[in-house]
Amino acid sequence: MCGIFGAICQGAVSNTLKALKLLEYRGYDSAGFAANRGDVIEICKTEGRIAALERLAQGVAETDVAIGHTRWATHGAVCAQNAHPFLSPDGRFAIVHNGIIENYLDLKKYLGKKVFSSQTDSETVAYLLEKEYRGDVLQAVLRVAQMLQGSFAIAITAVNERKLYAIKNKSPLVVGFGEGAYLCSDIRCISRWANSVAVTPDGTVAEISPDGARFFRFDGSPVAVNFFTPEQGENVAETSGDFMLKEIYEIPRKLVLAKNGYFDSGGLNLPERRAGSFRKIYFIGCGTAYNSGLQVSAVARQWFGIDVTPVIASEFVYGNYPVDGHTLAFFISQSGETADTVRAVERVRAAGGYAYAVTNTASSSLTFACDRTVNICAGGEYAVASTKAYNCQLVTLTLLMLDVALGRGAISRQSYRYFLREMDSLPQAVMRALKSDDEITRLAEKIKDVSALFYIGRIADYPTACEGSLKLKEISYIHSEAYPAGELKHGALALMDSDVAVVAISTFDALSDKTASSVNEIAARGAMVITVSDRVFENSLPLIIPKVHPALAGIASVVPLQLLAYRTAKSLGRDVDKPRNLAKSVTVE
Ligand code: F6R
Repeated sequence: MCGIFGAICQGAVSNTLKALKLLEYRGYDSAGFAANRGDVIEICKTEGRIAALERLAQGVAETDVAIGHTRWATHGAVCAQNAHPFLSPDGRFAIVHNGIIENYLDLKKYLGKKVFSSQTDSETVAYLLEKEYRGDVLQAVLRVAQMLQGSFAIAITAVNERKLYAIKNKSPLVVGFGEGAYLCSDIRCISRWANSVAVTPDGTVAEISPDGARFFRFDGSPVAVNFFTPEQGENVAETSGDFMLKEIYEIPRKLVLAKNGYFDSGGLNLPERRAGSFRKIYFIGCGTAYNSGLQVSAVARQWFGIDVTPVIASEFVYGNYPVDGHTLAFFISQSGETADTVRAVERVRAAGGYAYAVTNTASSSLTFACDRTVNICAGGEYAVASTKAYNCQLVTLTLLMLDVALGRGAISRQSYRYFLREMDSLPQAVMRALKSDDEITRLAEKIKDVSALFYIGRIADYPTACEGSLKLKEISYIHSEAYPAGELKHGALALMDSDVAVVAISTFDALSDKTASSVNEIAARGAMVITVSDRVFENSLPLIIPKVHPALAGIASVVPLQLLAYRTAKSLGRDVDKPRNLAKSVTVE
């Protein structure tokens, strides 16, 4: 949440604006930048999107030191006053902040009866810098860093300094060098400017100048930080049209990359001395990433003979789930920056468990926190609603579970090879599913005015229902819920009437008669039913999907549901890539 960028380079203002555009997916309720002109810092900020900031910035002259911010509100309403940057009252410092300063009320008391210009926790940092400044900016930054509690990545610029400063704890912050010196909350974004980058460790202050960077613990002792060459980011800014649609249509190609990437990086590859000792396996993630774990845990239980417990990361952190040296926990996260997921890693590692990251972002906080990482190879995903990353997570998790099953002798080498061959049919299956786009657009017109949607399925179709429902609600704002199909009659059937629609997913032949009964029960109450299956059911509008092995079916059957959410949201005129109240990377707990 919130994107921050800082630059010491020619054209720092225009480069900061370009970077904020790339970071907009992290938050988009307001934005701003500070242009450091030597003895004065000029602030330009506004409510709304980066496009509004660009208009406002037209009269602002260039400079060679700037910091910028795109906001997702945590403290204080969405308005220009609460937009970053914030100036210290004497105008010496400007700051931008991503995260939450948990003790900001105490800090306000410490500052005395100051009048603040905003309702944010962040502004206290600018005031503290003024109070703690005794002639040396670095020392002031270190003193302030020691006072802060919570999660924060803070960028600071000070008058008469051709340097940037950063304070980092539990929120992402990368420092990089190219034609100039930069800092940023996103490694993909900074790699557009920097060919050498370092991920700032937690509990660190960075002092960045065109000549290099120095890193210190909050007590002032130096920290050695490694620089490396980042993968080049994709050309995001030049892409026109909705990212979500583009990302759905990329799925067939990305499935191939996910499978190849898994084997190229060495597969499961657990340390030999521990490989045989794992008794408890977890899949841990949030939102769509959790749903992918839910899906593959159903597959692993049903077809590979492995018991995996899927847990929502924020529940895992406080839920007293058992962990010891025999625990293998897979942490699933597209961004690799989700605070709840990263916190959950700390719990597993502290109890001696093995933490395995399944992510789309190499060099993310998750990667650094875990013992091992496998990349899902989905490529940059910019629409807030996750699509192709989900499909690639399913491929990678399925391959991981196949390897675990093979290692335990739970499946034969022959079945292992069989599943790998079946997986090769998925890109074709998804391409065929995408051909239903016109039909899906017509269905979207039919469901767009219902008061609620229910998504139902059994076994591995239930997680697909969860994901379809999540996609629809987050971008169309229509209320939707997912149910295990057999559970409807235990409560939700009371809600069925002509104002409601139900999407029933059925890819498991052995259970299709059960689906037929559910469809009839719902249709008899007047609700519209759409079935997503390779067979046609009476009393329903069929969306036919190609037949694939039921263990892999979720990878293809979710695609029409992703499209249905997209087409419905479009027909309601929603901003599909940037739905209200959400952000792509949730870096606060
Ligand atoms: C839904 C969505 C969110 C994310 C969740 C976890 O479309 O995008 O539910 O899946 O915030 O994000 P990552 O995978 O980055 O940890």
